[in-house]
Amino acid sequence: MTNLSPTIDIHTHYVPNGWPDLAQETGANGPWPWLRSDSEREAMLMLGSAEFRPLRSNAWAAEERLAAMDADGVDVQVVSPTPVFFSYARDPKEAVKVSRIFNDLALEVCDPAQQRLIPFCQVPLQDTDAACRELDRSLENGHVGVEIGNHVGDRDLDDEGIITFLQHCADRNAAVFVHPWDMPTSPRLDRWMARWLVGMPGETHLSILSLILGGGFDRLPAHLRLCFAHGGGSFPYWVGRMDNAWHQRPDLIATSEFPPSHYLNRFSVDSVVFNDASLRLLTDVMGSEHIMLGSDFPYPLGERPAGNLIRKSAFLTQEQQSQILSSNAQKFLGMDVDADVQIFNETPASA
Ligand code: CO
Repeated sequence: MTNLSPTIDIHTHYVPNGWPDLAQETGANGPWPWLRSDSEREAMLMLGSAEFRPLRSNAWAAEERLAAMDADGVDVQVVSPTPVFFSYARDPKEAVKVSRIFNDLALEVCDPAQQRLIPFCQVPLQDTDAACRELDRSLENGHVGVEIGNHVGDRDLDDEGIITFLQHCADRNAAVFVHPWDMPTSPRLDRWMARWLVGMPGETHLSILSLILGGGFDRLPAHLRLCFAHGGGSFPYWVGRMDNAWHQRPDLIATSEFPPSHYLNRFSVDSVVFNDASLRLLTDVMGSEHIMLGSDFPYPLGERPAGNLIRKSAFLTQEQQSQILSSNAQKFLGMDVDADVQIFNETPASA
């Protein structure tokens, strides 16, 4: 790729066009996800006998992703798993099998356009050793980073095993994208799309807070490349409230070396907030060097055209737009910005 300022969308998802029967592959009972093909271009992602999410072929067909990217002015997509496949609540042996199946299928989805579709893997995060092994295997096969869910059951990101995994990602120079998932459910949250609209921002908020107050950032190296989805959820808006609590109730929450706002330069967030005032708050709080274009393609709660909010923003300078659309993501992905050909960290894309 000769374009030195490629527009990079770091938050997109894939679902492959079919996969082996997971009950048979794992020897474990469901409900497992499976794909009900409704037509050549439409399918229903099923969870056991329940309809989970309607899909179109842009979830798996590279040529359709590329057409949408061309229409939106996006050069490169980071292609991450859809969280329903994480399988963190499963026996680790089952989750290892599922991770391997989907990570290999992700390479097939991205294979027709290796310079433009950048695969991120999933790992069996409930088992730290297995997660590190699957990350290594995936990096060797051509994945560039990993998407993780924001928690494993009751274990949050400050959990010792998850910190060890994040340390391994830092050692391997692998980018980490944290996506909320497995939101709490209750009759109050099961109406409308409250789990997505209220639960997801709260989940991401809690995960960032846990990484701070649980001492994660105090222990992890500063070069770990970490990005949180959906503009960091409600965290950036409430950082003042958390700082105040840290100072007012140190007996309860001053468990980190510094107050929460001190750690804002340790992670990035994506830009999929849909509102100019929200993007302005995000820019003021996080700094334009810590925001990257993310669209949540191809799902309905994503931004189309991808990057519209950034390009139409009246307050961002041209330099800030360029940071958010391109250069921040190049650093996140370990791309060599001076080379004519993309080079990703130390692991060649050999798949
Ligand atoms: Co998403």
